[in-house]
Amino acid sequence: MAPGRMLGHENLGVVIEVGRGVDRIKVGDRVCLPFNIGCGFCANCERGLSGYCLTVNPGSAGGAYGFVGMGPYSGGQADYLRVPYGDFNCLMLPRDSEEKESDYVMLSDIFPTGYHATELAGVQAGDSVVIYGAGPVGLMAAYSAALKGASQVMVVDTQKDRLQLAEKLGAIAIDDTEGGGIKRVLELTGGKGADRGRECVGYQCCNRHREEVPNLTMNKLVQTVKATGRIGVVGVFLPENPQAKDKLARRGRLAFDFGQFWFKGQSIGTGQANVKAYNRPLSKLIEHDKVKPSWIVSHELPLSRAPEAYEKFD
Ligand SMILES: NC(=O)c1ccc[n+]([C@@H]2O[C@H](COP(=O)([O-])OP(=O)(O)OC[C@H]3O[C@@H](n4cnc5c(N)ncnc54)[C@H](O)[C@@H]3O)[C@@H](O)[C@H]2O)c1
Ligand SMILES: [Zn+2]
Repeated sequence: MAPGRMLGHENLGVVIEVGRGVDRIKVGDRVCLPFNIGCGFCANCERGLSGYCLTVNPGSAGGAYGFVGMGPYSGGQADYLRVPYGDFNCLMLPRDSEEKESDYVMLSDIFPTGYHATELAGVQAGDSVVIYGAGPVGLMAAYSAALKGASQVMVVDTQKDRLQLAEKLGAIAIDDTEGGGIKRVLELTGGKGADRGRECVGYQCCNRHREEVPNLTMNKLVQTVKATGRIGVVGVFLPENPQAKDKLARRGRLAFDFGQFWFKGQSIGTGQANVKAYNRPLSKLIEHDKVKPSWIVSHELPLSRAPEAYEKFD
């Protein structure tokens, strides 16, 4: 990430100006933007795969606000945001959008991403699900699994405050600080492993000594998902990570237990959430008070205190 670039995936606001060619969106509309930018007319956008738009980041598939390798677009942690292809990308918010702003803003990234993880893993009513990572994405994945009627949602992490939030959702929190996570998941699933698994950590996953071990969660998923089970990976893995200590990781490679994975007949779905495919139906759930994703908010600060917020976050 080049210094000086603007971050910000969670974009929501009031339209103050519209460009040429924008017909639907009007000044004064309150809108929420998917973190990925789509054109609406390419072969992937047409199929609902707007996270892999072929137009907005030429030579690649997928553009996003304030993200490495995803085009020149500035993020929304700023006073103003420019939205390309406004008619396609803006989700018009309903009348209660001002009072429920902290709920609707979750539609820009983590709520659809958590939901995408359930889709990638094929979660169905009655399934048992194991989720690695209790960050915002893992918690939203747990929330989405509950929405889909999962019978058992297990969330593995080492951060106690986050595990408590998972418990508040009705999930089974598994504290892996001492390394007993795998055993616990197997105990809870009669030794078979969960029907579905979700990776919500990414290549920065750590061992208990807080050292980065990028293949850790993927291999734990192979161990703790049942034979024929499906794994959804929304945690980010990169094609290269020049700063990694691990030689393989520098080139974006993992020592993956492929033999075990193959032998168990498992399958994997990966990638960016196609936010456009989910944000409208999820907004209806907010509008009709079926869900309240703002339960995740711990602090509300003005933009001027962003540096302090980042320190706290770290
Ligand atoms: N696919 C997408 O479209 C998409 C969208 C948004 C975010 N993401 C990615 O999702 C991932 C999670 O995002 P976040 O905001 O929740 O991140 P976060 O850093 O806030 O949370 C990650 C959590 O994983 C835990 N963790 C670390 N090592 C672990 C291990 N070995 N086992 C279990 N838990 C472990 C950490 O303690 C932390 O609580 C990131 O890689 C992020 O970039 C993907
Ligand atoms: Zn497109």
